[in-house]
Amino acid sequence: MLRHVLTVRDFTPGFLESLFQSAAASKRQHAGRGRGARVRWSPHWNALRDHVMVSLFYEASTRTRHSFEAAMARLGGKVITTENAAEFSSAIKGESLEDTIRIESGYGDVIVLRHKEKGAAARAASVSDVPVINAGDGDGEHPTQALLDLFTIAERFPGRRDLRVTFVGDLLKGRTVHSLAWLAAMLEGTSSGFAGAVNFVAPDVMQIPRPVEGLVRDCGLPVAMHDALTPALVAGSDVIYMTRTQSERHAVAPGGDSYALTEKLAASLGPDAVVLHPLPRNRELPEAIDRLPQARYFEQARNGLFVRMAILLWVFGVLEPIVAPGPRNRERAFA
Ligand code: NCD
Repeated sequence: MLRHVLTVRDFTPGFLESLFQSAAASKRQHAGRGRGARVRWSPHWNALRDHVMVSLFYEASTRTRHSFEAAMARLGGKVITTENAAEFSSAIKGESLEDTIRIESGYGDVIVLRHKEKGAAARAASVSDVPVINAGDGDGEHPTQALLDLFTIAERFPGRRDLRVTFVGDLLKGRTVHSLAWLAAMLEGTSSGFAGAVNFVAPDVMQIPRPVEGLVRDCGLPVAMHDALTPALVAGSDVIYMTRTQSERHAVAPGGDSYALTEKLAASLGPDAVVLHPLPRNRELPEAIDRLPQARYFEQARNGLFVRMAILLWVFGVLEPIVAPGPRNRERAFA
Protein backbone atom coordinates (compact mmCIF):
# COMPACT_ATOMS: atom_id res chain seq x y z
CA MET A 1 0.00 0.00 0.00
CA LEU A 2 1.30 3.41 -0.94
CA ARG A 3 1.84 5.72 2.02
CA HIS A 4 -0.03 8.81 0.88
CA VAL A 5 -0.38 11.82 3.21
CA LEU A 6 -3.71 13.35 2.19
CA THR A 7 -5.70 14.31 5.28
CA VAL A 8 -5.19 14.50 9.04
CA ARG A 9 -8.14 12.12 9.30
CA ASP A 10 -5.76 9.26 8.45
CA PHE A 11 -3.36 10.00 11.29
CA THR A 12 -3.12 7.76 14.34
CA PRO A 13 -1.38 8.34 17.68
CA GLY A 14 1.21 5.72 16.70
CA PHE A 15 2.01 7.57 13.50
CA LEU A 16 2.37 10.84 15.41
CA GLU A 17 4.59 9.29 18.05
CA SER A 18 6.91 7.79 15.50
CA LEU A 19 7.00 10.98 13.48
CA PHE A 20 7.62 13.33 16.40
CA GLN A 21 10.35 11.14 17.87
CA SER A 22 12.12 11.19 14.54
CA ALA A 23 11.66 14.94 14.06
CA ALA A 24 12.89 15.63 17.60
CA ALA A 25 15.94 13.40 17.01
CA SER A 26 16.81 15.30 13.82
CA LYS A 27 16.36 18.61 15.59
CA ARG A 28 18.63 17.51 18.45
CA GLN A 29 21.22 16.22 16.03
CA HIS A 30 21.14 19.45 14.10
CA ALA A 31 21.46 21.48 17.30
CA GLY A 32 24.56 19.46 18.18
CA ARG A 33 26.33 20.10 14.87
CA GLY A 34 29.43 22.23 14.86
CA ARG A 35 30.86 20.51 17.93
CA GLY A 36 33.27 18.49 15.86
CA ALA A 37 30.46 16.39 14.40
CA ARG A 38 29.85 16.23 10.66
CA VAL A 39 26.91 18.23 9.38
CA ARG A 40 24.33 15.47 9.41
CA TRP A 41 20.82 16.63 10.02
CA SER A 42 19.33 13.31 10.98
CA PRO A 43 20.30 9.89 12.27
CA HIS A 44 18.95 8.84 8.84
CA TRP A 45 20.98 11.49 7.03
CA ASN A 46 21.54 9.48 3.82
CA ALA A 47 18.57 7.12 3.93
CA LEU A 48 16.83 8.53 0.85
CA ARG A 49 19.88 8.75 -1.42
CA ASP A 50 18.26 6.58 -4.08
CA HIS A 51 14.97 8.50 -4.12
CA VAL A 52 13.61 11.37 -6.17
CA MET A 53 10.91 13.76 -4.98
CA VAL A 54 8.71 15.61 -7.47
CA SER A 55 7.53 18.90 -6.04
CA LEU A 56 4.56 20.16 -7.99
CA PHE A 57 3.19 23.49 -6.76
CA TYR A 58 0.25 25.11 -8.57
CA GLU A 59 0.04 27.83 -5.91
CA ALA A 60 2.64 30.11 -4.36
CA SER A 61 4.72 28.77 -1.48
CA THR A 62 7.89 29.66 0.38
CA ARG A 63 7.96 27.54 3.52
CA THR A 64 6.17 24.41 2.41
CA ARG A 65 7.98 23.91 -0.87
CA HIS A 66 11.45 24.78 0.36
CA SER A 67 11.18 22.91 3.64
CA PHE A 68 10.07 19.78 1.75
CA GLU A 69 12.88 20.21 -0.76
CA ALA A 70 15.44 20.90 1.98
CA ALA A 71 14.13 17.90 3.93
CA MET A 72 14.67 15.64 0.91
CA ALA A 73 18.14 17.09 0.31
CA ARG A 74 19.09 16.65 3.99
CA LEU A 75 18.19 12.97 3.74
CA GLY A 76 20.37 12.48 0.68
CA GLY A 77 17.51 12.45 -1.85
CA LYS A 78 17.08 14.40 -5.09
CA VAL A 79 14.37 16.88 -6.05
CA ILE A 80 12.77 17.80 -9.35
CA THR A 81 10.54 20.81 -9.04
CA THR A 82 8.30 23.35 -10.68
CA GLU A 83 7.56 26.43 -8.63
CA ASN A 84 4.57 27.60 -10.64
CA ALA A 85 3.03 24.51 -12.15
CA ALA A 86 -0.09 26.39 -13.26
CA GLU A 87 2.09 28.28 -15.74
CA PHE A 88 5.24 26.20 -16.19
CA SER A 89 3.73 22.73 -16.52
CA SER A 90 1.56 21.38 -19.32
CA ALA A 91 -1.48 22.59 -17.35
CA ILE A 92 -1.22 25.74 -19.45
CA LYS A 93 -1.67 23.54 -22.55
CA GLY A 94 -4.83 22.08 -21.06
CA GLU A 95 -3.41 18.92 -19.50
CA SER A 96 -5.53 17.52 -16.66
CA LEU A 97 -4.10 17.12 -13.17
CA GLU A 98 -4.63 13.37 -13.51
CA ASP A 99 -2.54 13.16 -16.69
CA THR A 100 0.23 15.25 -15.15
CA ILE A 101 0.31 12.92 -12.14
CA ARG A 102 0.36 9.80 -14.34
CA ILE A 103 3.45 11.21 -16.05
CA GLU A 104 5.22 12.54 -12.94
CA SER A 105 4.70 9.32 -11.03
CA GLY A 106 6.81 7.65 -13.69
CA TYR A 107 9.68 10.06 -12.97
CA GLY A 108 9.76 10.38 -9.18
CA ASP A 109 9.28 8.22 -6.08
CA VAL A 110 6.99 10.66 -4.24
CA ILE A 111 4.92 13.65 -5.36
CA VAL A 112 4.43 16.69 -3.12
CA LEU A 113 1.42 18.53 -4.49
CA ARG A 114 -0.05 21.96 -3.78
CA HIS A 115 -3.15 22.82 -5.76
CA LYS A 116 -5.86 25.47 -5.72
CA GLU A 117 -8.72 22.96 -5.74
CA LYS A 118 -10.04 21.19 -2.66
CA GLY A 119 -9.75 17.43 -3.17
CA ALA A 120 -6.92 17.70 -5.72
CA ALA A 121 -4.50 15.62 -3.64
CA ALA A 122 -7.00 12.77 -3.33
CA ARG A 123 -7.65 12.89 -7.09
CA ALA A 124 -3.90 12.78 -7.69
CA ALA A 125 -3.46 9.83 -5.33
CA SER A 126 -6.18 7.89 -7.16
CA VAL A 127 -4.09 7.80 -10.36
CA SER A 128 -0.55 7.88 -8.94
CA ASP A 129 1.88 4.97 -8.86
CA VAL A 130 3.85 6.64 -6.07
CA PRO A 131 2.86 8.25 -2.74
CA VAL A 132 1.26 11.70 -2.92
CA ILE A 133 1.71 14.25 -0.12
CA ASN A 134 -0.93 16.95 0.15
CA ALA A 135 0.92 20.26 0.55
CA GLY A 136 -2.35 22.23 0.58
CA ASP A 137 -5.48 21.70 -1.54
CA GLY A 138 -7.42 24.93 -1.99
CA ASP A 139 -9.48 25.71 1.08
CA GLY A 140 -9.47 22.02 2.04
CA GLU A 141 -6.58 20.81 4.15
CA HIS A 142 -2.89 21.22 4.83
CA PRO A 143 -2.07 18.08 6.82
CA THR A 144 1.71 18.42 7.00
CA GLN A 145 1.32 21.97 8.34
CA ALA A 146 -0.92 20.59 11.10
CA LEU A 147 1.82 18.11 11.96
CA LEU A 148 4.45 20.80 12.36
CA ASP A 149 1.95 22.96 14.27
CA LEU A 150 1.27 20.13 16.70
CA PHE A 151 4.98 19.32 16.98
CA THR A 152 5.60 22.95 17.97
CA ILE A 153 2.76 22.86 20.49
CA ALA A 154 3.93 19.57 21.98
CA GLU A 155 7.49 20.85 22.22
CA ARG A 156 6.29 23.72 24.39
CA PHE A 157 3.65 21.78 26.35
CA PRO A 158 4.85 18.17 26.59
CA GLY A 159 2.14 15.84 27.83
CA ARG A 160 -0.54 18.53 28.20
CA ARG A 161 -3.98 17.44 27.02
CA ASP A 162 -6.04 20.35 28.30
CA LEU A 163 -4.74 23.24 26.20
CA ARG A 164 -7.07 26.12 25.43
CA VAL A 165 -6.55 26.62 21.71
CA THR A 166 -7.79 29.82 20.04
CA PHE A 167 -7.92 30.06 16.25
CA VAL A 168 -8.08 33.62 14.91
CA GLY A 169 -8.64 35.10 11.45
CA ASP A 170 -9.84 33.54 8.22
CA LEU A 171 -11.15 30.26 9.57
CA LEU A 172 -13.46 29.76 6.60
CA LYS A 173 -10.82 29.54 3.88
CA GLY A 174 -7.71 28.88 5.98
CA ARG A 175 -6.85 25.23 5.31
CA THR A 176 -4.22 25.10 8.05
CA VAL A 177 -6.94 25.82 10.61
CA HIS A 178 -9.16 23.07 9.21
CA SER A 179 -6.39 20.52 9.52
CA LEU A 180 -5.26 21.50 13.03
CA ALA A 181 -8.82 21.77 14.37
CA TRP A 182 -9.65 18.39 12.83
CA LEU A 183 -6.53 16.93 14.37
CA ALA A 184 -7.54 18.27 17.79
CA ALA A 185 -10.91 16.56 17.36
CA MET A 186 -9.51 13.28 16.02
CA LEU A 187 -6.97 12.96 18.81
CA GLU A 188 -9.38 13.83 21.61
CA GLY A 189 -9.45 11.00 24.15
CA THR A 190 -6.29 9.37 22.74
CA SER A 191 -2.76 9.44 24.11
CA SER A 192 -1.94 12.21 21.63
CA GLY A 193 -4.88 14.51 22.49
CA PHE A 194 -3.75 18.06 23.20
CA ALA A 195 -6.77 20.37 23.30
CA GLY A 196 -9.08 20.88 26.27
CA ALA A 197 -11.19 23.62 24.66
CA VAL A 198 -11.30 25.40 21.33
CA ASN A 199 -12.21 29.02 20.49
CA PHE A 200 -12.92 30.15 16.94
CA VAL A 201 -12.47 33.92 16.59
CA ALA A 202 -13.44 35.46 13.24
CA PRO A 203 -15.76 37.96 11.63
CA ASP A 204 -19.01 36.24 10.60
CA VAL A 205 -18.00 36.00 6.95
CA MET A 206 -14.84 34.10 7.82
CA GLN A 207 -16.09 31.80 10.60
CA ILE A 208 -15.10 28.14 10.74
CA PRO A 209 -17.04 25.88 8.32
CA ARG A 210 -19.89 23.98 9.98
CA PRO A 211 -18.47 20.49 9.28
CA VAL A 212 -15.20 21.35 11.02
CA GLU A 213 -16.94 22.95 13.99
CA GLY A 214 -19.36 20.02 14.18
CA LEU A 215 -16.60 17.43 14.25
CA VAL A 216 -14.76 19.27 17.00
CA ARG A 217 -17.98 19.42 19.06
CA ASP A 218 -18.89 15.79 18.33
CA CYS A 219 -15.52 14.69 19.65
CA GLY A 220 -16.44 16.19 22.99
CA LEU A 221 -14.31 19.32 22.96
CA PRO A 222 -15.97 22.47 24.30
CA VAL A 223 -16.22 24.98 21.44
CA ALA A 224 -16.89 28.74 21.62
CA MET A 225 -17.35 31.13 18.69
CA HIS A 226 -16.42 34.82 18.90
CA ASP A 227 -16.43 37.70 16.45
CA ALA A 228 -13.61 39.70 18.04
CA LEU A 229 -10.35 39.01 19.81
CA THR A 230 -10.64 40.40 23.34
CA PRO A 231 -8.15 40.71 26.24
CA ALA A 232 -10.11 38.04 28.13
CA LEU A 233 -9.82 35.60 25.23
CA VAL A 234 -6.12 36.27 24.86
CA ALA A 235 -5.56 35.83 28.60
CA GLY A 236 -7.55 32.58 28.58
CA SER A 237 -5.58 30.89 25.77
CA ASP A 238 -2.56 28.63 25.91
CA VAL A 239 -2.20 28.56 22.13
CA ILE A 240 -3.21 31.48 19.91
CA TYR A 241 -3.18 30.42 16.28
CA MET A 242 -3.28 33.52 14.05
CA THR A 243 -4.04 33.42 10.32
CA ARG A 244 -4.17 35.93 7.48
CA THR A 245 -7.22 36.67 5.33
CA GLN A 246 -7.05 34.37 2.31
CA SER A 247 -7.88 37.21 -0.09
CA GLU A 248 -7.18 35.06 -3.14
CA ARG A 249 -9.93 32.64 -2.10
CA HIS A 250 -12.71 35.20 -1.50
CA ALA A 251 -14.76 36.74 -4.32
CA VAL A 252 -14.83 39.97 -2.30
CA ALA A 253 -12.04 40.21 0.27
CA PRO A 254 -13.54 40.79 3.72
CA GLY A 255 -11.94 43.68 5.56
CA GLY A 256 -11.62 44.53 9.24
CA ASP A 257 -8.89 44.27 11.82
CA SER A 258 -11.05 43.06 14.68
CA TYR A 259 -9.02 39.88 14.76
CA ALA A 260 -5.49 41.37 14.83
CA LEU A 261 -3.19 40.54 17.75
CA THR A 262 -2.17 44.10 18.53
CA GLU A 263 0.56 44.97 21.03
CA LYS A 264 -2.15 46.15 23.39
CA LEU A 265 -3.99 42.82 23.22
CA ALA A 266 -0.74 40.88 23.46
CA ALA A 267 -0.16 42.45 26.87
CA SER A 268 -2.84 40.02 28.10
CA LEU A 269 -0.91 36.92 26.96
CA GLY A 270 -0.09 34.50 29.75
CA PRO A 271 3.66 34.02 30.35
CA ASP A 272 3.54 30.43 29.10
CA ALA A 273 1.19 30.97 26.16
CA VAL A 274 2.40 30.52 22.57
CA VAL A 275 1.50 32.54 19.52
CA LEU A 276 1.61 30.54 16.29
CA HIS A 277 0.99 31.53 12.67
CA PRO A 278 1.48 29.35 9.58
CA LEU A 279 2.80 32.46 7.77
CA PRO A 280 2.84 34.48 5.59
CA ARG A 281 1.44 37.18 7.85
CA ASN A 282 -0.23 40.46 7.06
CA ARG A 283 -1.59 43.10 9.43
CA GLU A 284 -3.10 40.56 11.83
CA LEU A 285 0.30 39.94 13.41
CA PRO A 286 2.41 43.11 13.76
CA GLU A 287 6.19 42.75 13.82
CA ALA A 288 6.21 44.27 17.31
CA ILE A 289 4.92 40.90 18.58
CA ASP A 290 8.09 39.14 17.33
CA ARG A 291 10.14 40.20 20.33
CA LEU A 292 7.74 38.62 22.85
CA PRO A 293 8.83 35.28 24.33
CA GLN A 294 5.41 33.86 23.43
CA ALA A 295 6.04 34.39 19.69
CA ARG A 296 6.90 30.95 18.30
CA TYR A 297 6.02 31.25 14.62
CA PHE A 298 9.57 31.39 13.27
CA GLU A 299 10.44 28.34 15.35
CA GLN A 300 7.23 26.74 14.02
CA ALA A 301 8.40 27.34 10.42
CA ARG A 302 11.84 25.94 11.25
CA ASN A 303 10.26 22.85 12.76
CA GLY A 304 8.66 22.29 9.35
CA LEU A 305 11.98 21.03 8.09
CA PHE A 306 12.43 18.41 10.81
CA VAL A 307 8.81 17.27 10.67
CA ARG A 308 8.90 16.98 6.86
CA MET A 309 12.10 14.95 7.07
CA ALA A 310 10.22 12.56 9.34
CA ILE A 311 7.23 12.50 6.97
CA LEU A 312 9.48 11.56 4.03
CA LEU A 313 11.16 8.84 6.11
CA TRP A 314 7.73 7.44 6.93
CA VAL A 315 6.54 7.62 3.32
CA PHE A 316 9.54 5.54 2.23
CA GLY A 317 9.17 2.99 5.04
CA VAL A 318 12.29 4.01 6.98
CA LEU A 319 10.03 4.89 9.93
CA GLU A 320 7.32 2.53 11.04
CA PRO A 321 4.33 3.77 13.01
CA ILE A 322 4.37 2.54 16.57
CA VAL A 323 1.26 0.42 16.85
CA ALA A 324 0.45 0.46 20.54
CA PRO A 325 1.30 3.88 21.92
CA GLY A 326 1.54 4.35 25.67
CA PRO A 327 -0.28 7.15 27.47
CA ARG A 328 2.67 9.52 27.67
CA ASN A 329 4.04 9.32 24.16
CA ARG A 330 4.37 12.97 23.42
CA GLU A 331 6.32 13.51 26.60
CA ARG A 332 8.70 10.74 25.58
CA ALA A 333 9.30 12.27 22.17
CA PHE A 334 10.39 15.49 23.80
CA ALA A 335 12.18 14.03 26.83
C1 NCD B 1 -0.36 28.55 4.53
C2 NCD B 1 -0.99 27.91 3.32
O1 NCD B 1 -0.42 27.89 2.23
O2 NCD B 1 -2.07 27.39 3.51
N1 NCD B 1 1.01 28.74 4.44
C3 NCD B 1 1.86 27.70 4.69
O3 NCD B 1 1.81 26.69 4.05
N2 NCD B 1 2.72 27.83 5.70
C4 NCD B 1 -1.10 29.74 5.04
C5 NCD B 1 -1.49 30.84 4.09
O4 NCD B 1 -1.28 30.80 2.89
O5 NCD B 1 -2.04 31.80 4.61
